[in-house]
Parts: sequence; structure tokens; C-alpha cells
Amino acid sequence: MNFPHLFSPLKVGPYQLRHRLVMAPLTRMRAARPSLAPRPLNAEYYAQRATQGGLIIAEASPVLATGFGNPGVPGIYTEQQVDGWRSVVNAVHAKGGVIFLQLWHVGRVSHSSFQPGGALPVAPSAVPISPDLKTMTADGKVVAYETPRALLTSEIPGIVEAFRQGARNAMAAGFDGVEIHGANGYLIEQFLQSRSNLRTDQYGGGIENRSRLLREITQAAIEVWGANRVGVRLSPYGVANDSGEADPMPLYTHAIQSLNPLGLAYLHFIEPRSSGAGRAEVDHQNVPSAMVLFRPVWKGILISAGGFTGDTADAAIAAGHADAIAFGRIFISNPDLPHRLQRGFPLTPYNRATFYGGEEKGYTDYPAYDEMAPA
Ligand code: FNR
Repeated sequence: MNFPHLFSPLKVGPYQLRHRLVMAPLTRMRAARPSLAPRPLNAEYYAQRATQGGLIIAEASPVLATGFGNPGVPGIYTEQQVDGWRSVVNAVHAKGGVIFLQLWHVGRVSHSSFQPGGALPVAPSAVPISPDLKTMTADGKVVAYETPRALLTSEIPGIVEAFRQGARNAMAAGFDGVEIHGANGYLIEQFLQSRSNLRTDQYGGGIENRSRLLREITQAAIEVWGANRVGVRLSPYGVANDSGEADPMPLYTHAIQSLNPLGLAYLHFIEPRSSGAGRAEVDHQNVPSAMVLFRPVWKGILISAGGFTGDTADAAIAAGHADAIAFGRIFISNPDLPHRLQRGFPLTPYNRATFYGGEEKGYTDYPAYDEMAPA
């Protein structure tokens, strides 16, 4: 058997996992339209990846209609969406999988064509994403990002409440827990980082204030689920969506230390070397390792993701840098990834052209490895 550390059991919150290979949250833009509810195809996709007693973190799902920046992304704020997710969860549970839902708001990583009433996207401050980065409108035009509208202080409790309701909805759908998306330059990270947060109220300024929204949202999810079924995802040193704190160490040390006493199920990092992997093939060189830097700060279960192979995942766990490793891109093209790595079977390469949107092609048609097939 390969990778004995990766394939050793782990308890995450109340869940006894049979191994430490996690499916990373992956936006695939294949929800039903216009309901943005998961559909049977989505249930089939997740069930294919749930066969080996591991943890799946389902794709980022906006908690509000203002939280979208892409077409076909599933939501978690209407009854129809909850019903759709329930079918996904039931299919995963029938295969013995454990599944958390990632709760999302994109903030300024959007375009008015996705916003209710064609309004501007909302953000901590009216700071646009660099014009060097482009986005796509709802009807497929490539454009620069707009300058977002800064949220009023009085609107922020509504954002926190939407995450609380999203957490409740995830529970109603039968999920095993939720993950707060605090990574990749989306709303929560926009509040965390000084380049996107110029606020002068209690949500801006020093690191304590910039971390406040993350804490309030996490606390709201905990009030719904209990801390041991809530995880948080962060990407210190990441550069996705024009993010990046000039000096990440004090900010993230503070943010992580303030999460420590809560007793969360886990903290989940995206390694900076793979920051932006959703958009392009990246391998940022000479960047720090989030798990190595912050393992000493974080007192709970640590999951890391980003550019791992079976070898590097096993080594990271053996070295104590992480407790579990999440895989993204190669889980897309290998529905039976744990089985393949454990048995040393070859991996199917992924096709980036079918990552986002479409039907079964590049989604549910990647086969499991057939030991009996002629090579
Ligand atoms: C992603 N990633 C991502 N991250 C996240 O927190 N929520 C999400 O919904 C998505 N969506 C998404 C879609 C696609 C198609 C890709 C490729 C990536 C990032 C992902 O979870 C993971 O951190 C990176 O892919 C790096 O891991 P791998 O792919 O190197 O194993």
C-alpha cells in the first residue's frame, strides 16, 4: 500500500474519516438555470467522488443573490437550492462520504450583470480589481472589473445574517458541516486585506478590525452548527483575484489566533504556490508554505491544498505540517483518486477547457480506473 500517512484514519469534528485525502471545493458552474439549484448531474458527480470514506468539501455556494460573479454557480439561499443540495448530500451519504458545503460571497469579484437590478458589486471599499485582470459579463463579454460599491456599516449585519441563514440551509439540506470561504480574494478576504479594505469603521483599519467580519461570520455558523462542524478556508500569501497583503504574517497570525479558541473542525489553507489555480496553470516559485509557517500558530486540525501529489501529501502529513491534504484538479479527472493513489494506478490528466460550465463532458464522464482493461 502506498502513502501510509495519507491513508491513515483521522477524526475531523465528530466524523471518523478513513483517510486524509480531502476533495477540495471546486466551482464547476453546472447548476440548473435559472434556479441555480443543484440537479441530478451534480449529485452523480459528487457521488462518484464519495466512495472511500473521505471528506468532500462541496463547491463554493453564495449565501446571497449579490454573492455571485459567475454563471451556473449553485446557491444556498432558496428552497429550491436547498432541495437540490439535499439530493447531492443523499447521494454522497449513500456512498459513505462526509460532505461539507463551502459558503461564499464573491464581493467585488463580480460584475453588475450578475447583480440583482444590475447594481454594482459590493465590497469593503470602492477599490476595483486591477484592470490587468479581466472578468466576463453574464452574456460572455470580456471586460475590466467595475469599481464596487462600499458596503455601509449598517449593511454588514445583513451579510453576517446571510451566512448564518446559509449555514442553516446547509443543515436543512443534510450536509455534515460548513466551510467559510475566507480565501482567494473574495468578500471575507477583501475585508481581511489592507489593499481592498480602506474602511474607517470597526471593520477596517488595524488587523483586529479587518478580521472582524471573518470572526462574526464564523461565529454565526458556529451558532448554527456547533464549532466542531465548521471549518474556515484561508489563503495567506495568495494572489488570486488581485489579493495579497503586503505583510501577511501579522494579519494571518492574528486571524488564526482569534479562531483558535473557537474549537473549529479544521482550518484549511490554499498553498500560495497554487494561488489562482482555478484560472490558469500556475506554480508560483519561491513562495512561502502556508502550512509550514502557520502550523505552529493553529492548534486544531489543519488541511492544506495546492499542487500536492501523493508523495508530497504523504510527506507533509508525516512531517506534521498538515493533518490532511485536499486535492482539486486531479480529483476532477480521477473520481476514484484515493483508490488510485493508494494502489499506485496511473492518473487521468484533467482538461481545463471543461472545468467551468457544460454538461457531463469533463464532469461525470471521467472513468474510474479499470484494473481489468488492457493497458
Ligand atoms: C478551484 N478552487 C476553489 N477554491 C475554493 O475555495 N472554492 C472553490 O469553489 C474553488 N473552485 C475551484 C474551481 C476549479 C476548477 C479549480 C481548479 C480550483 C481552488 C481549489 O480548491 C484548490 O485549492 C486548487 O485547485 C489547488 O489545488 P490542486 O488543484 O493543486 O490540488
